[in-house]
Amino acid sequence: METEDKIKKRIKSLTKEINSHNDRYYKYNTPSIPDIEYDALFAELKSLEEKYPVWAAKNSPTKSIGSDLTNQFTKFKHQVPVLSLENTYNTSELEEWITKTGMDLEYSLEWKIDGASILLYYTEGKLTTCVTRGTGGIGDVVTENVKTIQSLPQVLKSDLTVTVRGEIFMNFSDFEEFNEEYGGKFANPRNLSAGSIKHKDPNEVAKRPLRIYVYDAYFGNGRKGIHTHEDILGILKKEGFPLAPDTEILTGLNLVSKIDSFKKKKDKMPFPIDGLVIKLNSLEKRESLGETSHSPRWARAFKFDALMMETEIEAIDYAIGRTGKITPRARVTPTLLAGTTVTYATLHNQDYIDQLGAGIGAKVLISKRGEIIPAVEKVIQASKMGVFKLPSKCPVCNTKLVKVDDSVDFFCTNRYCPEREKNTLIFFCSKKQMNIEGLGEKQIELFYNNKWIHNIADLYRLHKRRKELETLDGFGEKSVKIILEGIEKSKEKDFRFTLPSLGLNEIGPKVTEVLIEAGIDSWEKLLLLSKKATAEEELESIHGIGPRTIKALLENAKDKETNKLIKDLISLGVKFTTDEVEKSELQPFIGQSWCVTGSFENFQPRDKAMDLITKHGGRKVSSVSSKTTHLLYGPGAGSKLDKAIELGVLTVTEEEFLKLLKKEKIPF
Ligand code: IVH
Repeated sequence: METEDKIKKRIKSLTKEINSHNDRYYKYNTPSIPDIEYDALFAELKSLEEKYPVWAAKNSPTKSIGSDLTNQFTKFKHQVPVLSLENTYNTSELEEWITKTGMDLEYSLEWKIDGASILLYYTEGKLTTCVTRGTGGIGDVVTENVKTIQSLPQVLKSDLTVTVRGEIFMNFSDFEEFNEEYGGKFANPRNLSAGSIKHKDPNEVAKRPLRIYVYDAYFGNGRKGIHTHEDILGILKKEGFPLAPDTEILTGLNLVSKIDSFKKKKDKMPFPIDGLVIKLNSLEKRESLGETSHSPRWARAFKFDALMMETEIEAIDYAIGRTGKITPRARVTPTLLAGTTVTYATLHNQDYIDQLGAGIGAKVLISKRGEIIPAVEKVIQASKMGVFKLPSKCPVCNTKLVKVDDSVDFFCTNRYCPEREKNTLIFFCSKKQMNIEGLGEKQIELFYNNKWIHNIADLYRLHKRRKELETLDGFGEKSVKIILEGIEKSKEKDFRFTLPSLGLNEIGPKVTEVLIEAGIDSWEKLLLLSKKATAEEELESIHGIGPRTIKALLENAKDKETNKLIKDLISLGVKFTTDEVEKSELQPFIGQSWCVTGSFENFQPRDKAMDLITKHGGRKVSSVSSKTTHLLYGPGAGSKLDKAIELGVLTVTEEEFLKLLKKEKIPF
C-alpha cells in the first residue's frame, strides 16, 4: 500500500514537474534544466505510466505535446495534428526500432535542428498564415514575424495549396554577433529564435538573424503522385524553400553506420543541432503504422546527448581564472560517460550549489554535453556534511572573495594571485592569442613555479635565462630555441593581437577590431581619448561597443598597473600600434570594398585574407551595405551573406578568391 501510494505520488509529481518545464521551455523560452534532465524525467513518467496506466493523468504530458500558446496572439486551429517525436538515445534502441519497422525499408536521415517549430499555410501559392505548434491542435498566429525571414518564399512558383512544416533557427555566428550587441543577454540560439517569433513587434524581429529550414508538407488537395518523403522534399526544393543540408535516403541496414558520420560532422555545422531525425520514406507505410497522440510511429529522433550518469562527489576544489573568477568543481568518482572518463564536473557557482543542494559525499547525476565541460546536474542523495559553502577567502592567496556588480560569481581581486598570474600567461601564449610555440600550460607552470616569469613582460626577458632553461629536466637546446624563437616572433604581432591577448575583461579581438576601425589603433590613442572629458560620448558613438565595454576600456586606460605592463612590453619590443598594411604594386582590388565573414582553410585568422585585399588596393568594411562591392565568405557565414545576396553584392567563396589571387599573380 505504501509503495502504491509512493508510485501514485511520483506519477503526480512528475506530471506536475514536466508540465511546468514544458511551460518554461515552450511558452517563456527560459528552460531551467538541460534537455537531458527533462528527457530523463519524461522517460521515468512514461515507464511508470506503462506499468500503472490507471494512475496516469488524463492530460499527461506523455500523451500530448508541450504547449507554446500565450495570450498575446490570435489562435488558429491546425488542419492536421502537429505532432512531436519520440526520442532514442543509443544505437541499440534505434536498431530495435528499425528492426521492428523494417530493415529493408527506406528511411530519411536528417539533422534535428534546435529551433522553434513552425507551420506555414499557403493558399494557391501565397503564404497566408504562419502558426506556432501550440498545443499541436491550436497554435499562435505569428505571420508578420515569420514573414521577416528573408529566405522564406512568400509566393510559390506554382499555385499550390499546402501546409509546410519547418524549423526557425539561428546560426551560431549570427547568434553570437547579435547577442554581443545585447551584452550577452540571451542564453542560446534556440531560446532567442523561439522568443523572437513570439515578439510583439515585427520590426524588432526583422533585425534578428532568423533562418528557416523546412522538412515536411501536407497537400490539401490529395497526393497527386507523391509517394515518398523524398518526393515531398523534391517539391519543396522546386518551390524555392530552403532545406537543411545533408539529408539522405537510406535503407535500415545502412542507417546506423551513417549516424556515426553525421555525429562526426555535427560540431562543424553552423546551426544548432540536437540530434537526427529518422523517418520512413514511404507515405503509404507511414499511414499503416499510424501515430499516437504525441508522436508518429514512423519516425524517431536520435539524440546525440548521452543521458546522465550517477556518481559521487569526493571533494570540491576550485578553478581560479585569469579574471579572478572562482569556479567550484566537484571531483567525482571516475565515471564513464559518452565515451570518456569524467573525474571533474563543474558546480558553476555558489547559487548553483545552493539550488542543487550539493555537498561532499552527495550522490549526484553528471552530464557531459557536446563541447561543454561535464556538470553536476542533480543531487539524488544529499551529503551528510550539508550543502557546500565556498570559502570567504581565495584558497590560493587568501584574499577576501567578492561579488562584482550583479554577477553570481565570486572573484579573487588580487591581480598578483598566483593562479590568476599563471592563467593570464597561459591565455597570452595560447593559439588564438599570441600563439607562442612551445609555451603551453605545462611549461608556463614550470617557469612560473621557478619564479622566472610572473607577468607577461617577463616572457620577453626569458632569453636571459637560456642556460637555466636548457638544464631543466625534459628541456634541451632545441626545445628552448623553439620557445625563445616563438617569443621573439610574437613581436611581429600588432595591436590587433597584443591588446586582446592581455586578457583584460571585455576587451577581446572584436572590440579591438572595432576600435581600430574607428581610428583608435594604438594604446597611446586609447590613452589620449580616455583623458578627454568627452571620452565616454566618443566611445558611445562607435557602433559595436556597449556600456560595459566602455567602462572596462576607460578603467583599464586609467589603471596604473596595466599602463606599466604595456609600457614595459613596448620597451621590450612588443607592438601596441597597428601595422600599416603595406601597399603592393599590384592593385587589382582598387576601388573595391570588401567584407569578409565566416572561416577559411587557407586564411586563419581571416584577417590574413583581409590583409591581402587591403595590401592590393581594396578597402576593408566590417558590415555589408549597398556600398560594399564584394563579400568573401566561408563556412559559418551569418546574416552578412543573406544581406549581400539581398543587396546584390558579389559573393566570393574561398575557392574563387584563391583563383582570383592566382589570376592576379598575388602570392599568399
Ligand atoms: S519531423 C511528425 N524533422 O523537433 C514529425 N522535426 O522533437 C514531426 N525538428 O517539433 C517532426 N528538425 O520542431 C522533424 N528534420 C526535422 C526536424 C524536426 C527539428 C523539431 C520539430 C519537432 C521537434 C520534435
